[in-house]
Amino acid sequence: MAKHETPLIDQLESGPWPSFVSDLKQEAESRAKNEKNIEYQIPQDCCDDLLGVLELSYKHGRTHWKHGGIVGVFGYGGGVIGRYCDQPEMFPGVAHFHTMRVSQPAGKYYTTKYIEDICDLWERRGSGLTNMHGATGDIIFLGTTTPQLEEVFWELGHNLNQDLGGSGSNLRTPSDCLGESRCEFACFDTQAICHDLTNEYQDELHRPAFPYKFKFKFDGCPNCCVAAIARSDLAFIGTWRDDIRIDQEAVKAYIGGEIPPNAGAHAGRDWGPFDIQKEVIDLCPTKCMRYEDGKLEINTPECTRCMHCINVMPRALRVGNDKGASLMVGAKAPILDGAQMATLLVPFIKVEPPYTEIKETVIEPIWDWWMEEGKNRERLGELIKREGMQKLLEVTGFKADPRMIQEPRSNPYVFWKADEVPGGFERDINEFRKFHQR
Ligand code: HEM
Ligand code: HEM
Ligand code: SF4
Ligand code: SF4
Repeated sequence: MAKHETPLIDQLESGPWPSFVSDLKQEAESRAKNEKNIEYQIPQDCCDDLLGVLELSYKHGRTHWKHGGIVGVFGYGGGVIGRYCDQPEMFPGVAHFHTMRVSQPAGKYYTTKYIEDICDLWERRGSGLTNMHGATGDIIFLGTTTPQLEEVFWELGHNLNQDLGGSGSNLRTPSDCLGESRCEFACFDTQAICHDLTNEYQDELHRPAFPYKFKFKFDGCPNCCVAAIARSDLAFIGTWRDDIRIDQEAVKAYIGGEIPPNAGAHAGRDWGPFDIQKEVIDLCPTKCMRYEDGKLEINTPECTRCMHCINVMPRALRVGNDKGASLMVGAKAPILDGAQMATLLVPFIKVEPPYTEIKETVIEPIWDWWMEEGKNRERLGELIKREGMQKLLEVTGFKADPRMIQEPRSNPYVFWKADEVPGGFERDINEFRKFHQR
């Protein structure tokens, strides 16, 4: 028998999509039965109370969590998002309901053993509820009490060799597309660099030292499966510099209908037989492709590596051999001064362990600048707007390059440095008056 009546959220148990309400109820029931004889360290009925407070929020159309919450573990300045219910008498099981961010493996590959181990820990010391995963990438443990935080942290570290993720004004948990592990488009090992930089910058991740949050994301190619260009302050996006590799026989097989276009992604609807002219050549954004006399040609200097032709004919076209990444900076959500996608800073850089060039010529100079110049709670993207892209180029030492702009400025409010102007800026009005009377 459920602890609270939940008529509104009960409606979310119907329909084909996996119901979070049914799952919550299942966990509530499992805790009530406690068949494994677990010594629950937080209220056994916390899932029932979560259902209860959620039902109340559905009824009121407003949240029932109090503002903020500052909790954590010694040594770290982040990793735990504190939260308290604003109806603790009605729902004592969620009076404390803190979220713990747990650092996930790059690409989110798991063994059952690992998942079972973290579940055993979280059933005993937490609510048994999770978010797999948070939008930044972390494994999210949803709901525990303050006294359990150090206990969970100790067991994670000592028994599971596992750390917390980031929160606060620091480097947040980096994440990546699955890259070379199972994608033939990957232009660098996204998992390796994600893991390496996560380890390299543990201090920056665990102890907030920045004006605001900062995120890394790694996409193996411009398809951007982890959306680095939109959701990270420093985005790594794989690309190549040489020719797209063309297998002319496979091209013919596509044209002959032996291989479905886009690996069959549009098979749910009849789009007619594959037409290479219509579906590839005419859609190439730079019109740099040609199919003549049974041969596909690509004019490499004009190709912007948009991925379209490769996405359509993955068995005939492959990314080049001279691979690396473009680095883009400044993406952020709307607050305060408007949403930004990342802007190109490094058109091409090799991505090879131990990534020294990336660390020393890109990441650390950007941080040195932003940590000094960034205003309180100003994202990198906003600092770039405020102080200018040129300033970013100066501090990183990269040369201005036409690839860094979509179009040149149209306004003529151009700043010059004094030493770029013959005679500098120090002028004497009396000199001027000698030639021009008032
Ligand atoms: C035959 C007469 C004139 C010619 C050929 C002329 C030409 C120009 C040109 C080519 C510019 C630059 C536009 C640009 O940067 O895109 C300019 C700017 C300007 N002119 Fe003239 N001008 C004339 C008369 C005047 C007069 C009589 C005034 C003021 C009473 C004036 C005030 C200005 C100002 C303030 C600017 C700067 C505007 C800005 O930076 O946005 N001009 N003029
Ligand atoms: C009380 C009188 C005036 C006030 C309060 C005023 C105010 C301003 C302001 C706020 C700007 C914009 C500055 C910027 O964007 O950085 C401006 C620009 C300008 N004003 Fe005035 N203005 C006045 C009188 C005049 C007069 C009398 C003229 C011409 C005879 C004039 C010509 C201009 C021009 C050409 C610009 C553009 C300058 C540039 O693009 O750098 N203004 N003014
Ligand atoms: S971003 Fe590119 S390399 Fe990474 S998984 Fe997606 S398609 Fe593959
Ligand atoms: S990758 Fe894009 S720009 Fe390059 S040839 Fe293919 S469709 Fe054209």
